[in-house]
Amino acid sequence: MAAGNSCDRKLTKMPTLIFIEPNDERREVLAEIGESAMQAATRHGVDGIIGECGGSCMCATCHCYVALDAARPLAPLDVAERETLEFTASHVRADSRLACQIRITEALDGLVLRVAER
Ligand code: FES
Repeated sequence: MAAGNSCDRKLTKMPTLIFIEPNDERREVLAEIGESAMQAATRHGVDGIIGECGGSCMCATCHCYVALDAARPLAPLDVAERETLEFTASHVRADSRLACQIRITEALDGLVLRVAER
């Protein structure tokens, strides 16, 4: 039997992200490890996530309200994300995040993101 049998590889589960679109439609999408939540949303056509700047933290067209959840910890806001959120068209809240700045890990499986209305 050959060494390095493919059955030895660890299978990685693709995390599911739950987006609540502005019309309250619930969308569950599979995300790739290492991509951003914005990339997963735009690939699946989630309404309200545009990603105009391509994830450069410049446009705020990926503004979401992310449920605070100790089981799914996010990296804290950095200065660039905080400054870009100041220019968003929607109300900025304590749970405001830019989806392009949320890097997907297995730990984020089940993360809920409510898409901002504008
Ligand atoms: S895609 Fe532009 S700030 Fe997120």
